[in-house]
Amino acid sequence: MTKKPENIKVEKGQTYFLCTCALSEKYPFCDGTHRNASTDLKSMHYTAQETCTMAYHPGEAPKKI
Ligand code: FES
Repeated sequence: MTKKPENIKVEKGQTYFLCTCALSEKYPFCDGTHRNASTDLKSMHYTAQETCTMAYHPGEAPKKI
């Protein structure tokens, strides 16, 4: 399954668990679905360095927009 890029609002100092497998019902955030899927992909931990909006493409580090 492929999910399109999403824009996410992040807050400075908060850590987010981003979905890299694109199976999450809460995409772009990981909901743990990867554990039961036949994938080796895991969530990506991202700690925001500032409060802003980021573009997230599955499997890539979020980029400020
Ligand atoms: S559900 Fe996709 S990485 Fe966890």
